[in-house]
Amino acid sequence: MDLILLGPPGAGKGTQAKMLTEHFGIPQVATGDILRGAVQAGSALGLKAKGFMDAGLLVPDEVVIGIVRERLLQEDCRAGFILDGFPRTVAQADALQSNLAELGRRLDRVVSLTVDADALVERLTGRRTCRSCGRGFHLTFDPPMVAGRCDACGGELYQRDDDREETIRKRLTVYAQQTAPLIDYYRSAKLLVELDGMQAIPVVQEQVLSALQAG
Ligand code: AP5
Ligand code: MG
Repeated sequence: MDLILLGPPGAGKGTQAKMLTEHFGIPQVATGDILRGAVQAGSALGLKAKGFMDAGLLVPDEVVIGIVRERLLQEDCRAGFILDGFPRTVAQADALQSNLAELGRRLDRVVSLTVDADALVERLTGRRTCRSCGRGFHLTFDPPMVAGRCDACGGELYQRDDDREETIRKRLTVYAQQTAPLIDYYRSAKLLVELDGMQAIPVVQEQVLSALQAG
């Protein structure tokens, strides 16, 4: 099961990817998480990526294409993967296609989540993420049982640096200009399933699963 979750910032890619990981036992490959990990570690990659991320801009294609190429070669991706936040440009999508072809694989499905712009801003400003296990919460829509603590592991919840309103607006513009064209790209490839991401988290979850099980 080789999947892509596509959608604007705040659409619910990470939320749904975590559920799919548990359901199918295949890893979530989230370029944003990998890049934030590199920033946290202070590695050369992190130093390169930080300025772009803080500005709400995309990290250069060659950087993320290389990261994903390496990641998909790892053992845990053999039975499948859930790409979250990649590809984000046509160049990334083309590179993914040729990397998979080299491995004798091809994408099974691209699930696109559609959400109104106002709802995206509300979701991102209220998001909190666990520092230890990466689980996402929302202060209103998916609150933790204990304020500031992760339900799953008890880790500390934090707010992402790029979830400030002006950076959110920039990320949404970048999405519309550089990533939204991938909807037509994958529609033409007959891989696209479009779902209404405005519904509650468990409803979206059911629809994602039934779309994938529809074969
Ligand atoms: P990345 O981390 O990928 O961020 P993003 O695409 O902006 O997406 P988000 O993680 O913000 O949203 P999401 O769809 O995962 O939503 P979530 O499930 O958390 O990228 C960050 C940066 O890294 C980029 O700006 C760029 O600089 C760089 N980068 C990453 N990948 C790159 C690439 N390929 N190329 C170049 N640069 C790259 O949900 C959001 C909130 O809403 C949560 O609080 C959640 O609880 C809540 N929620 C979720 N679903 C629902 C629902 N159905 N109803 C109500 N609330 C909901
Ligand atoms: Mg995410």
